[in-house]
Amino acid sequence: MSSVPESGKKARRIELRGIEKRFGDTPVIRGLDLDVRPGELLVLLGPSGCGKSTLLRLIAGLEHPTAGTVEIGGVVVNELPPAARDVAMVFQSYALYPHMTVAQNLGFGLKSRGLDKGDINRKVSATAQTLELADLLERRPGQLSGGQQQRVALGRALVREPGVFLLDEPLSNLDAGLRIKTRDEIASLHRRLGTTMVFVTHDQMEAMSLGQRIAILDRGTLQQIGTPEAIYHSPANLFVAGFIGTPAINRAALAPGGGGRLRWGPVEVARPWADGPGTLAVRPEGLSRAIGRAGDFVAEVTRVEALGSETIVHLALPPGLPSGGRGWTLRAGPSETFMTGESIEVGIDWNRCHLFDPTGVRWPDAPTPHKASS
Ligand SMILES: Nc1ncnc2c1ncn2[C@@H]1O[C@H](COP(=O)(O)OP(=O)(O)OP(=O)(O)O)[C@@H](O)[C@H]1O
Ligand SMILES: [Mg+2]
Repeated sequence: MSSVPESGKKARRIELRGIEKRFGDTPVIRGLDLDVRPGELLVLLGPSGCGKSTLLRLIAGLEHPTAGTVEIGGVVVNELPPAARDVAMVFQSYALYPHMTVAQNLGFGLKSRGLDKGDINRKVSATAQTLELADLLERRPGQLSGGQQQRVALGRALVREPGVFLLDEPLSNLDAGLRIKTRDEIASLHRRLGTTMVFVTHDQMEAMSLGQRIAILDRGTLQQIGTPEAIYHSPANLFVAGFIGTPAINRAALAPGGGGRLRWGPVEVARPWADGPGTLAVRPEGLSRAIGRAGDFVAEVTRVEALGSETIVHLALPPGLPSGGRGWTLRAGPSETFMTGESIEVGIDWNRCHLFDPTGVRWPDAPTPHKASS
Protein backbone atom coordinates (compact mmCIF):
# COMPACT_ATOMS: atom_id res chain seq x y z
CA MET A 1 0.00 0.00 0.00
CA SER A 2 1.41 3.37 -0.98
CA SER A 3 1.52 6.25 1.45
CA VAL A 4 2.04 8.81 -1.29
CA PRO A 5 -1.31 10.32 -2.25
CA GLU A 6 -2.50 11.34 -5.70
CA SER A 7 -1.23 14.87 -5.24
CA GLY A 8 2.27 13.50 -4.71
CA LYS A 9 2.27 14.82 -1.19
CA LYS A 10 3.50 12.59 1.59
CA ALA A 11 0.90 11.33 4.05
CA ARG A 12 1.96 12.06 7.61
CA ARG A 13 2.25 9.84 10.65
CA ILE A 14 0.74 11.10 13.91
CA GLU A 15 2.30 10.02 17.19
CA LEU A 16 0.81 10.94 20.55
CA ARG A 17 2.94 10.12 23.57
CA GLY A 18 1.81 10.33 27.19
CA ILE A 19 -0.90 12.86 26.44
CA GLU A 20 -2.67 14.35 29.44
CA LYS A 21 -5.24 17.10 29.16
CA ARG A 22 -6.96 18.82 32.04
CA PHE A 23 -9.44 21.66 32.00
CA GLY A 24 -8.84 23.19 35.42
CA ASP A 25 -8.88 20.20 37.77
CA THR A 26 -10.83 17.96 35.44
CA PRO A 27 -8.79 15.35 33.60
CA VAL A 28 -10.21 14.87 30.11
CA ILE A 29 -7.43 12.86 28.44
CA ARG A 30 -5.36 10.54 30.63
CA GLY A 31 -1.98 9.06 29.73
CA LEU A 32 -2.81 8.46 26.12
CA ASP A 33 -0.43 6.93 23.54
CA LEU A 34 -1.67 6.63 19.98
CA ASP A 35 -0.05 6.14 16.56
CA VAL A 36 -1.87 6.93 13.36
CA ARG A 37 -0.03 5.38 10.42
CA PRO A 38 0.73 7.41 7.30
CA GLY A 39 -2.22 7.23 4.92
CA GLU A 40 -4.41 5.41 7.41
CA LEU A 41 -8.08 6.13 8.05
CA LEU A 42 -8.37 5.80 11.82
CA VAL A 43 -11.74 6.16 13.51
CA LEU A 44 -11.87 7.52 17.06
CA LEU A 45 -14.95 6.09 18.72
CA GLY A 46 -16.43 6.60 22.15
CA PRO A 47 -19.46 7.84 24.06
CA SER A 48 -20.35 11.50 24.32
CA GLY A 49 -17.95 13.42 26.55
CA CYS A 50 -15.14 10.83 26.44
CA GLY A 51 -12.68 13.34 24.94
CA LYS A 52 -12.80 12.70 21.19
CA SER A 53 -13.07 16.34 20.10
CA THR A 54 -10.47 17.35 22.65
CA LEU A 55 -8.03 14.80 21.23
CA LEU A 56 -8.61 16.01 17.70
CA ARG A 57 -8.14 19.62 18.79
CA LEU A 58 -4.86 18.64 20.47
CA ILE A 59 -3.62 17.20 17.16
CA ALA A 60 -4.79 20.29 15.27
CA GLY A 61 -3.12 22.63 17.75
CA LEU A 62 -6.34 24.24 18.95
CA GLU A 63 -5.66 22.91 22.45
CA HIS A 64 -2.37 22.34 24.23
CA PRO A 65 -1.65 19.16 26.18
CA THR A 66 -1.08 19.47 29.92
CA ALA A 67 1.64 16.84 29.43
CA GLY A 68 2.98 14.70 26.59
CA THR A 69 4.07 15.23 23.00
CA VAL A 70 2.25 15.48 19.70
CA GLU A 71 4.32 14.49 16.66
CA ILE A 72 3.22 14.93 13.07
CA GLY A 73 5.41 13.56 10.29
CA GLY A 74 8.21 12.89 12.76
CA VAL A 75 8.29 16.46 14.10
CA VAL A 76 7.22 17.45 17.61
CA VAL A 77 4.57 20.10 16.98
CA ASN A 78 3.66 21.03 20.58
CA GLU A 79 4.91 24.55 20.03
CA LEU A 80 3.63 24.97 16.47
CA PRO A 81 0.44 26.96 15.80
CA PRO A 82 -2.38 25.19 13.90
CA ALA A 83 -1.49 26.80 10.57
CA ALA A 84 2.05 25.40 10.69
CA ARG A 85 0.98 21.78 11.33
CA ASP A 86 -0.07 20.71 7.81
CA VAL A 87 -3.43 19.67 9.26
CA ALA A 88 -6.99 20.52 8.20
CA MET A 89 -10.01 19.93 10.38
CA VAL A 90 -13.72 19.64 9.69
CA PHE A 91 -15.58 20.65 12.82
CA GLN A 92 -18.51 19.00 14.55
CA SER A 93 -20.60 22.13 14.07
CA TYR A 94 -19.25 23.41 10.79
CA ALA A 95 -20.47 26.83 9.77
CA LEU A 96 -20.24 27.99 6.18
CA TYR A 97 -20.09 31.71 5.46
CA PRO A 98 -23.73 32.36 4.52
CA HIS A 99 -23.06 35.46 2.41
CA MET A 100 -20.35 33.78 0.32
CA THR A 101 -20.81 31.49 -2.65
CA VAL A 102 -19.63 27.88 -2.56
CA ALA A 103 -16.54 28.89 -4.56
CA GLN A 104 -15.75 31.70 -2.10
CA ASN A 105 -16.31 29.40 0.87
CA LEU A 106 -13.91 26.86 -0.63
CA GLY A 107 -11.29 29.45 -1.50
CA PHE A 108 -11.46 31.56 1.65
CA GLY A 109 -8.73 29.74 3.57
CA LEU A 110 -6.39 29.89 0.58
CA LYS A 111 -7.04 33.58 0.04
CA SER A 112 -6.24 34.38 3.64
CA ARG A 113 -2.99 32.47 3.23
CA GLY A 114 -2.05 34.76 0.35
CA LEU A 115 -2.30 32.40 -2.63
CA ASP A 116 -2.79 34.13 -5.97
CA LYS A 117 -6.06 34.10 -7.76
CA GLY A 118 -5.08 31.64 -10.50
CA ASP A 119 -3.87 29.08 -7.95
CA ILE A 120 -6.98 29.49 -5.84
CA ASN A 121 -9.26 28.98 -8.82
CA ARG A 122 -7.38 25.88 -9.90
CA LYS A 123 -7.50 24.30 -6.44
CA VAL A 124 -11.13 25.26 -5.87
CA SER A 125 -12.24 23.76 -9.14
CA ALA A 126 -10.24 20.55 -8.56
CA THR A 127 -11.82 20.18 -5.11
CA ALA A 128 -15.27 20.92 -6.50
CA GLN A 129 -14.74 18.17 -9.10
CA THR A 130 -13.70 15.67 -6.43
CA LEU A 131 -16.74 16.40 -4.27
CA GLU A 132 -19.20 16.85 -7.16
CA LEU A 133 -19.80 20.48 -6.34
CA ALA A 134 -18.76 21.86 -9.72
CA ASP A 135 -22.31 22.82 -10.70
CA LEU A 136 -22.98 24.54 -7.39
CA LEU A 137 -20.01 26.90 -7.18
CA GLU A 138 -22.09 30.08 -7.59
CA ARG A 139 -24.75 29.13 -5.02
CA ARG A 140 -24.85 30.32 -1.44
CA PRO A 141 -25.11 27.86 1.50
CA GLY A 142 -28.81 28.72 1.99
CA GLN A 143 -29.48 27.35 -1.49
CA LEU A 144 -27.88 23.96 -0.77
CA SER A 145 -29.21 20.74 0.78
CA GLY A 146 -27.72 19.54 4.07
CA GLY A 147 -25.59 16.99 2.26
CA GLN A 148 -24.27 19.56 -0.20
CA GLN A 149 -23.41 21.93 2.65
CA GLN A 150 -21.58 19.06 4.31
CA ARG A 151 -19.55 18.47 1.15
CA VAL A 152 -18.61 22.17 1.04
CA ALA A 153 -17.43 21.89 4.66
CA LEU A 154 -15.30 18.88 3.67
CA GLY A 155 -14.10 20.77 0.61
CA ARG A 156 -12.87 23.70 2.69
CA ALA A 157 -10.50 21.31 4.47
CA LEU A 158 -9.64 19.28 1.37
CA VAL A 159 -8.70 22.28 -0.75
CA ARG A 160 -5.75 22.92 1.53
CA GLU A 161 -4.24 19.54 0.55
CA PRO A 162 -3.30 18.75 4.13
CA GLY A 163 -0.93 15.97 5.18
CA VAL A 164 -3.43 15.13 7.91
CA PHE A 165 -7.20 15.38 7.68
CA LEU A 166 -9.19 15.55 10.93
CA LEU A 167 -12.95 15.04 10.81
CA ASP A 168 -15.05 15.61 13.93
CA GLU A 169 -18.43 13.87 13.52
CA PRO A 170 -18.82 15.38 10.07
CA LEU A 171 -21.97 13.41 9.28
CA SER A 172 -24.00 14.04 12.42
CA ASN A 173 -26.17 16.72 10.83
CA LEU A 174 -27.28 14.49 7.98
CA ASP A 175 -30.32 12.22 7.80
CA ALA A 176 -29.75 8.46 7.81
CA GLY A 177 -29.70 7.92 4.04
CA LEU A 178 -27.43 10.83 3.28
CA ARG A 179 -25.14 9.86 6.12
CA ILE A 180 -24.48 6.47 4.55
CA LYS A 181 -23.93 8.02 1.14
CA THR A 182 -21.53 10.67 2.45
CA ARG A 183 -19.75 8.03 4.51
CA ASP A 184 -19.12 6.05 1.32
CA GLU A 185 -17.87 9.23 -0.35
CA ILE A 186 -15.40 9.84 2.47
CA ALA A 187 -14.14 6.25 2.21
CA SER A 188 -13.58 6.58 -1.53
CA LEU A 189 -12.04 10.02 -1.10
CA HIS A 190 -9.62 8.51 1.36
CA ARG A 191 -8.75 5.71 -1.07
CA ARG A 192 -8.04 8.23 -3.82
CA LEU A 193 -6.10 10.79 -1.78
CA GLY A 194 -4.24 8.41 0.53
CA THR A 195 -4.12 11.17 3.15
CA THR A 196 -3.85 10.32 6.84
CA MET A 197 -7.36 10.75 8.25
CA VAL A 198 -8.72 10.70 11.77
CA PHE A 199 -12.49 10.46 11.81
CA VAL A 200 -14.40 10.97 15.06
CA THR A 201 -17.78 9.44 15.72
CA HIS A 202 -19.85 8.06 18.57
CA ASP A 203 -21.72 5.81 16.13
CA GLN A 204 -20.30 2.30 16.23
CA MET A 205 -21.83 1.30 12.88
CA GLU A 206 -20.19 4.29 11.23
CA ALA A 207 -16.89 3.37 12.87
CA MET A 208 -17.10 -0.27 11.81
CA SER A 209 -17.97 0.57 8.22
CA LEU A 210 -15.37 3.31 7.74
CA GLY A 211 -12.35 2.55 9.90
CA GLN A 212 -9.28 0.64 8.76
CA ARG A 213 -8.58 0.66 12.47
CA ILE A 214 -10.76 1.90 15.32
CA ALA A 215 -9.46 3.48 18.52
CA ILE A 216 -12.00 3.26 21.34
CA LEU A 217 -11.95 5.90 24.03
CA ASP A 218 -13.76 5.91 27.37
CA ARG A 219 -13.42 8.71 29.92
CA GLY A 220 -10.22 9.95 28.32
CA THR A 221 -8.49 6.57 28.27
CA LEU A 222 -7.71 4.47 25.21
CA GLN A 223 -9.49 1.13 25.65
CA GLN A 224 -8.43 -0.68 22.48
CA ILE A 225 -7.12 -0.01 19.01
CA GLY A 226 -7.52 -2.51 16.20
CA THR A 227 -9.32 -3.51 13.02
CA PRO A 228 -13.12 -3.65 13.15
CA GLU A 229 -12.91 -7.47 13.11
CA ALA A 230 -10.45 -7.58 16.00
CA ILE A 231 -12.52 -5.19 18.06
CA TYR A 232 -15.72 -7.12 17.44
CA HIS A 233 -14.34 -10.63 17.89
CA SER A 234 -11.59 -9.99 20.43
CA PRO A 235 -12.70 -7.08 22.61
CA ALA A 236 -10.02 -6.12 25.13
CA ASN A 237 -12.46 -5.55 27.96
CA LEU A 238 -16.10 -5.44 28.97
CA PHE A 239 -16.48 -1.80 27.98
CA VAL A 240 -15.44 -2.50 24.37
CA ALA A 241 -17.46 -5.73 24.27
CA GLY A 242 -20.57 -3.86 25.41
CA PHE A 243 -20.03 -0.76 23.29
CA ILE A 244 -19.55 -2.58 19.97
CA GLY A 245 -22.27 -4.74 18.46
CA THR A 246 -26.03 -4.45 17.97
CA PRO A 247 -27.85 -5.94 19.78
CA ALA A 248 -25.38 -5.74 22.66
CA ILE A 249 -23.36 -8.74 23.78
CA ASN A 250 -25.15 -10.99 26.30
CA ARG A 251 -23.59 -11.09 29.76
CA ALA A 252 -23.76 -13.38 32.72
CA ALA A 253 -22.17 -12.97 36.15
CA LEU A 254 -20.09 -16.05 36.98
CA ALA A 255 -20.12 -17.38 40.53
CA PRO A 256 -17.58 -19.54 42.35
CA GLY A 257 -18.32 -23.19 41.58
CA GLY A 258 -15.83 -24.90 43.89
CA GLY A 259 -12.55 -26.57 42.93
CA GLY A 260 -11.27 -23.55 41.04
CA ARG A 261 -14.32 -23.55 38.77
CA LEU A 262 -16.79 -20.83 37.88
CA ARG A 263 -20.47 -21.46 37.29
CA TRP A 264 -23.38 -19.72 35.70
CA GLY A 265 -26.49 -21.88 35.65
CA PRO A 266 -25.82 -24.41 32.90
CA VAL A 267 -22.26 -23.25 32.23
CA GLU A 268 -19.06 -24.35 33.91
CA VAL A 269 -15.46 -23.28 33.28
CA ALA A 270 -12.09 -23.59 34.99
CA ARG A 271 -11.20 -20.20 36.45
CA PRO A 272 -8.14 -18.89 34.53
CA TRP A 273 -7.36 -16.00 36.89
CA ALA A 274 -6.24 -16.23 40.49
CA ASP A 275 -9.33 -15.09 42.31
CA GLY A 276 -12.77 -13.57 42.00
CA PRO A 277 -15.86 -14.35 39.94
CA GLY A 278 -15.80 -12.48 36.56
CA THR A 279 -18.21 -12.35 33.64
CA LEU A 280 -19.15 -14.61 30.76
CA ALA A 281 -20.30 -12.91 27.55
CA VAL A 282 -21.58 -14.21 24.25
CA ARG A 283 -22.85 -12.31 21.22
CA PRO A 284 -26.40 -12.90 19.95
CA GLU A 285 -25.04 -15.03 17.07
CA GLY A 286 -23.41 -17.32 19.63
CA LEU A 287 -26.87 -18.49 20.68
CA SER A 288 -29.22 -20.61 18.62
CA ARG A 289 -32.45 -22.47 18.99
CA ALA A 290 -31.75 -26.11 19.72
CA ILE A 291 -34.02 -28.19 17.56
CA GLY A 292 -34.42 -31.94 18.05
CA ARG A 293 -32.08 -31.92 21.04
CA ALA A 294 -31.88 -30.48 24.51
CA GLY A 295 -30.38 -26.98 24.59
CA ASP A 296 -28.21 -25.54 27.31
CA PHE A 297 -31.04 -23.59 28.89
CA VAL A 298 -34.70 -22.77 28.35
CA ALA A 299 -35.84 -19.16 27.82
CA GLU A 300 -39.05 -17.36 27.04
CA VAL A 301 -39.36 -15.33 23.84
CA THR A 302 -40.44 -11.82 24.82
CA ARG A 303 -40.17 -10.05 21.47
CA VAL A 304 -39.33 -10.93 17.88
CA GLU A 305 -37.74 -8.47 15.47
CA ALA A 306 -38.00 -9.86 11.94
CA LEU A 307 -35.55 -7.60 10.12
CA GLY A 308 -35.66 -9.36 6.76
CA SER A 309 -32.09 -10.58 6.49
CA GLU A 310 -32.08 -11.82 10.07
CA THR A 311 -34.35 -12.16 13.07
CA ILE A 312 -33.50 -10.81 16.51
CA VAL A 313 -35.16 -12.81 19.27
CA HIS A 314 -35.41 -11.23 22.72
CA LEU A 315 -35.28 -13.70 25.57
CA ALA A 316 -36.23 -13.64 29.24
CA LEU A 317 -34.00 -15.99 31.19
CA PRO A 318 -35.51 -18.14 33.95
CA PRO A 319 -35.18 -16.84 37.54
CA GLY A 320 -32.25 -19.15 38.29
CA LEU A 321 -30.12 -17.54 35.57
CA PRO A 322 -29.05 -14.01 36.50
CA SER A 323 -28.40 -11.90 33.40
CA GLY A 324 -27.46 -8.63 35.04
CA GLY A 325 -31.00 -7.26 34.90
CA ARG A 326 -30.91 -7.30 31.10
CA GLY A 327 -32.65 -9.62 28.73
CA TRP A 328 -30.63 -11.64 26.26
CA THR A 329 -30.92 -11.69 22.51
CA LEU A 330 -30.43 -14.43 19.95
CA ARG A 331 -29.64 -13.79 16.28
CA ALA A 332 -31.48 -16.20 14.01
CA GLY A 333 -31.73 -16.72 10.27
CA PRO A 334 -34.63 -15.14 8.37
CA SER A 335 -36.43 -18.45 7.78
CA GLU A 336 -36.64 -19.46 11.44
CA THR A 337 -39.92 -18.59 13.13
CA PHE A 338 -40.41 -17.61 16.73
CA MET A 339 -43.54 -16.70 18.64
CA THR A 340 -43.76 -14.23 21.45
CA GLY A 341 -44.48 -16.06 24.69
CA GLU A 342 -43.15 -19.46 23.65
CA SER A 343 -40.42 -21.23 25.58
CA ILE A 344 -37.46 -22.38 23.54
CA GLU A 345 -34.40 -24.50 24.11
CA VAL A 346 -31.31 -22.36 23.58
CA GLY A 347 -27.89 -23.73 22.65
CA ILE A 348 -24.66 -21.88 23.42
CA ASP A 349 -21.77 -21.95 20.93
CA TRP A 350 -19.00 -22.52 23.46
CA ASN A 351 -16.27 -21.34 21.12
CA ARG A 352 -17.89 -17.92 20.93
CA CYS A 353 -17.96 -17.33 24.67
CA HIS A 354 -15.66 -14.72 26.18
CA LEU A 355 -14.43 -14.59 29.75
CA PHE A 356 -13.70 -11.35 31.59
CA ASP A 357 -11.93 -11.22 34.93
CA PRO A 358 -13.25 -9.20 37.90
CA THR A 359 -11.55 -6.03 36.58
CA GLY A 360 -13.35 -6.41 33.24
CA VAL A 361 -10.29 -7.48 31.23
CA ARG A 362 -10.82 -10.28 28.71
CA TRP A 363 -8.72 -13.42 29.01
CA PRO A 364 -8.01 -14.40 25.39
CA ASP A 365 -6.57 -17.83 26.22
CA ALA A 366 -9.17 -18.77 28.82
CA PRO A 367 -10.42 -22.35 28.70
CA THR A 368 -13.61 -22.99 26.72
CA PRO A 369 -16.70 -23.18 28.94
CA HIS A 370 -18.88 -26.29 28.76
CA LYS A 371 -22.22 -27.53 29.96
CA ALA A 372 -22.22 -28.20 33.67
CA SER A 373 -22.75 -31.81 34.59
CA SER A 374 -25.49 -31.08 37.12
N1 LIG B 1 -12.91 24.15 27.15
C1 LIG B 1 -13.34 23.28 28.04
N2 LIG B 1 -13.39 23.57 29.36
C2 LIG B 1 -13.79 22.66 30.28
N3 LIG B 1 -14.20 21.42 29.98
C3 LIG B 1 -14.18 21.07 28.69
C4 LIG B 1 -13.77 21.95 27.65
N4 LIG B 1 -13.87 21.31 26.47
C5 LIG B 1 -14.34 20.06 26.77
N5 LIG B 1 -14.52 19.93 28.09
C6 LIG B 1 -15.00 18.70 28.77
O1 LIG B 1 -14.14 17.65 28.40
C7 LIG B 1 -14.87 16.44 28.22
C8 LIG B 1 -14.61 15.90 26.83
O2 LIG B 1 -15.17 16.77 25.88
P1 LIG B 1 -15.11 16.48 24.32
O3 LIG B 1 -15.77 17.60 23.62
O4 LIG B 1 -13.71 16.16 23.95
O5 LIG B 1 -15.99 15.15 24.24
P2 LIG B 1 -16.48 14.34 22.95
O6 LIG B 1 -16.01 12.93 23.14
O7 LIG B 1 -16.10 15.04 21.72
O8 LIG B 1 -18.08 14.35 23.13
P3 LIG B 1 -19.26 14.47 22.02
O9 LIG B 1 -19.41 13.10 21.43
O10 LIG B 1 -20.44 14.86 22.85
O11 LIG B 1 -18.86 15.51 21.03
C9 LIG B 1 -16.32 16.78 28.49
O12 LIG B 1 -16.62 16.40 29.80
C10 LIG B 1 -16.37 18.28 28.33
O13 LIG B 1 -17.36 18.84 29.11
MG1 LIG C 1 -17.13 15.99 20.22
